[in-house]
Amino acid sequence: VLTDPRGVDPLRAGLADYLGRVRGVVADPARVMVTCGYSQGLGLVCHALHAAGARRIAVEHPSNPEYREIASRAGLEVVSIAVDECGIRIDELERADVDAVAVTPAHQDPTGVVLTSERRAALVSWLRARKAIAIEDDYDAEYRYDRAAVGALQGLEPDRVVYAGSASKILAPALRLGWLVLPPSLVDAVCDEKVLADRATASIEQHALADFLTRGELDRHLRRMRIVYRARRDAIVEALAKELPEARVRGIAAGLHVNVELPASDDERAIRDESYRRGIQFSTALGEYAPYADDALPTLMLGYARMPEPAIRIGVHELASAILATREGVSR
Ligand SMILES: Cc1ncc(COP(=O)(O)O)c(C=O)c1O
Repeated sequence: VLTDPRGVDPLRAGLADYLGRVRGVVADPARVMVTCGYSQGLGLVCHALHAAGARRIAVEHPSNPEYREIASRAGLEVVSIAVDECGIRIDELERADVDAVAVTPAHQDPTGVVLTSERRAALVSWLRARKAIAIEDDYDAEYRYDRAAVGALQGLEPDRVVYAGSASKILAPALRLGWLVLPPSLVDAVCDEKVLADRATASIEQHALADFLTRGELDRHLRRMRIVYRARRDAIVEALAKELPEARVRGIAAGLHVNVELPASDDERAIRDESYRRGIQFSTALGEYAPYADDALPTLMLGYARMPEPAIRIGVHELASAILATREGVSR
């Protein structure tokens, strides 16, 4: 029997059920494809769009430069569209003359905003009018702490939105498992790309995840981890308020990291280097992402997924003293 490039049947069925139930995704197993993570899924879709004649794709600004590179290597011209407090700017998108757009509606990466319902509706209208395709990176949707997450954009326009999910945040990034839910019109083209890329994702891991899903273990895991991560987020926000009152935590209560904005006079790179020397590692917005607007403030992206609360309190204390050291021009 030939390997199905979309993945093994039990996992595609399990994902269709899970995504419909938890994220409001319109998914039947026939349009589900298992990938080696979001990165691969994005590349496959970009290659398929390019093969079908697409030339330009919009991406959020700021957004992960690696994903811009993936789109560009698939032959698409990448156009940056600004993100404000309500998510991607649809007025700019309307003027951009693009065939597709890649978005992070549930929790914008890296600003941490959520795409408002007005913007979602405007995005869907634009997709229909333009006959364009959106790639929805449903990043962090399972980890929303203050309320139930907004349903997936795909549920509003399943024929024009490619839904993309990943096990990286909900289970482990080392698994290298992700999934796409494709508009019917793209299934064959993306299957062709998947065959050329790697034939299909490894089946043993797929069967293991299917088993985990169908026994309800993923639901249980997420229920448990939401409580754990929420406590960690509260601990980091509290410790920052105490140790660094001049810092501002940006973005909604979601995900596995907080964005911490510092006063303009702080030196983001010096703080990162001094913190690394003290054993604290994190990304910075200007350092690793396409820059924010010119007036962007220094921003630290502090991950808390792997740190219990006492370690978080110690880490933030040490971070505050690293920041102080950079302000005083001394290092330890
Ligand atoms: C914005 C964003 N989307 C998706 C992912 C998941 O990517 P992958 O499935 O390739 O690990 C990540 C990585 O953690 C991410 O930062």
